[in-house]
Amino acid sequence: MEGLFITVEGPDGAGKTSVINELIPRLKKIATKNIVTTREPGGSPIAEKIRGLVLDKKNTDMDQRTEALLYAASRRQHLVEIIEPALVSGTTVVCDRFVDSSLAYQGAGRKIGMKEVAQLNLFATNGRTPDLTLYLDVDAETGLSRIQNHRSMEVNRLDVESLEFHQRVRHGYIQLLEQYPQRIKKIDAKADLDHVVEDCLQVIQKYVGDKL
Ligand code: TMP
Repeated sequence: MEGLFITVEGPDGAGKTSVINELIPRLKKIATKNIVTTREPGGSPIAEKIRGLVLDKKNTDMDQRTEALLYAASRRQHLVEIIEPALVSGTTVVCDRFVDSSLAYQGAGRKIGMKEVAQLNLFATNGRTPDLTLYLDVDAETGLSRIQNHRSMEVNRLDVESLEFHQRVRHGYIQLLEQYPQRIKKIDAKADLDHVVEDCLQVIQKYVGDKL
């Protein structure tokens, strides 16, 4: 049987990386199948090179559609090299960001349009969709202040965008949540880390616990 495909999404400063770092060891304790974690943009050597390009703060002239295409290209390579083989072998894949990020950031944040970006990504993914998406919700002000206050967090080309941009991104996520209530589950990411991790575990157990 194919492995489970779980994605973790959220605006910048939602704390995805810390949550995933805490979540995975706990998930491994209760899972019967292997689990791999990976991330986007990146996750494979070629895709990581595209990550470097697309997040480089020096690339101030990058066109918005170029940006959307680069995320989709990185995703395609990562999917073919890492995600699909793992799922086919029955491994559970936990991926830090996937198509929803492009819909929220490029579709809503950059105002390209969520439908347009969805079409572009359909070509990249051939329709591969996560079984479950944990959406870590945080308002744009809190997210941005977390990034500014934690120097250890990587500050990239999108982090330095305006508050309005990040508000549009969050709004995009909320729209997706309303559109796909079966797949996307909202977690309050303003709570402390232990709480957020606990909520994520409960959601996973409730919705896909039997397939772990
Ligand atoms: P990260 O900070 O979670 O590693 O993500 C890197 C940045 O890339 C983050 O600001 C969100 C952005 N991003 C997009 O704009 N579109 C995408 O499709 C993906 C995967 C990430």
